[in-house]
Amino acid sequence: MTIDLKSPAELEKMRAVGRLAAEVLEMIGRYVAPGVSTGELDRICHRHIVEKQQAVPAPLNYKGFPKSVCTSVNHVVCHGIPNDRKILKNGDILNIDVTVIKDGYHGDTSKMFFVGAPAEHARRLVQVTRECLLKGIEAARPGKHLGDIGHVIQQHGEANHYAIVREYCGHGIGRGFHEDPQVLHYGEPGTGIELLPGMTFTIEPMLNAGTRHTRLSAKDGWTVTTRDRRLSAQWEHTIAIGEDGCEVLTLRDEER
Ligand code: MF3
Ligand code: CO
Ligand code: CO
Repeated sequence: MTIDLKSPAELEKMRAVGRLAAEVLEMIGRYVAPGVSTGELDRICHRHIVEKQQAVPAPLNYKGFPKSVCTSVNHVVCHGIPNDRKILKNGDILNIDVTVIKDGYHGDTSKMFFVGAPAEHARRLVQVTRECLLKGIEAARPGKHLGDIGHVIQQHGEANHYAIVREYCGHGIGRGFHEDPQVLHYGEPGTGIELLPGMTFTIEPMLNAGTRHTRLSAKDGWTVTTRDRRLSAQWEHTIAIGEDGCEVLTLRDEER
């Protein structure tokens, strides 16, 4: 495992691309509504990234992924493939996961959207999952360890009777889409590598309403669902460890 520490010049590029990825999520919100297909949302994001941002959607053709963003609805945990036949309906919860490449660097971020008015239990899963991401970000500062991040996420998720998905994790990011280290969303305080200024990685907890177990679609090789078909939620940011805390590189205006 080799963890690449980014120079100030590289961090400037990571900030720029992080802002672009965040901006895609800000832009797409007004299109999420009952009756819209995930394929249509993908096309809107693709056009925005390629034409407006003059950037590259990292998922497209990544290890054979066929679309420009991931769209994961309800019991889909992650890596859902946008599809013109998948029409959003009132009450759905949707994750859109955007990764942009600009000037050689990646920015990776996702958020949950409500389609119409989801049930209270669904909103609560989405809210607690967001709190897990924010707690993970608070734990990310120099001198702390990767296990501290996983621990606070696991604690908060499980205290709310949700299960943490273990098969997928956050990751280092930079010139590469997925660099070292792996950022687990569970763990013990003080374990794992020590966090150092210049590290850039994602935190992207996935929480399930039922059991933690997932299934990978044999049909498309990408779509990950909950085994029990109960709901799952995910939020993701790309962060940089600084001298005193961390910087969220994919912060949206609504979060400021
Ligand atoms: N954006 C996802 C992540 O957070 C990875 C998607 S890979 C893809 O790491 F091929 F499905 F796009
Ligand atoms: Co990621
Ligand atoms: Co992502």
